Amino acid sequence: METTLVLVKPDGVQRRLVGRILARFEEKGLQVVGLRLRMLDRPLLERHYGAHRSKPFYEGLVAYMASSPVVAVALRGKNAVAVVRKMMGATFGSKAEPGTIRGDFAVSDGFNLVHGSDSPEAAAKELELFFGADGVVDWRPGDMEWVYDVSDGAR
Ligand code: RTP
Ligand code: MG
Repeated sequence: METTLVLVKPDGVQRRLVGRILARFEEKGLQVVGLRLRMLDRPLLERHYGAHRSKPFYEGLVAYMASSPVVAVALRGKNAVAVVRKMMGATFGSKAEPGTIRGDFAVSDGFNLVHGSDSPEAAAKELELFFGADGVVDWRPGDMEWVYDVSDGAR
């Protein structure tokens, strides 16, 4: 099982899409193990998006992400990092495939509703940043035996 970080970005919260976006991940079978609405400040965003510091869109990205609350979600499941990235769709809303979250709800390239960790290594760092050491709740879903084939591990 992997755990990954999703952020419903400020446009997703302002457009009242939090429930619909979370529903997609829940319906897929992913498990919510952390959930928090919060404002992001510049120091946190500099760590979160540090890889983009030299990019021309960086300042706009930080301003956008600090402009309004976000919902941070820790999601757990088989291959969760890749599954979430696929469900989000391509970075730019105008290019994202229909059926993906960005493809269905975003037409803007910058305001693209969701963030998802792009590797297990990034997920570990981002989960620590947003939920700390004890912010993620380990719990066993009651429908585990139906979401997965548990006769041989969890497949
Ligand atoms: P994210 O990190 O938010 O999940 O998005 P991503 O992996 O799909 O895209 P990434 O390359 O990491 O870019 C981070 C966010 O910066 C904004 N962006 N703007 N104007 C531009 O060329 C541009 N490129 C990226 C987007 O909000 C993107 O999600
Ligand atoms: Mg990224």
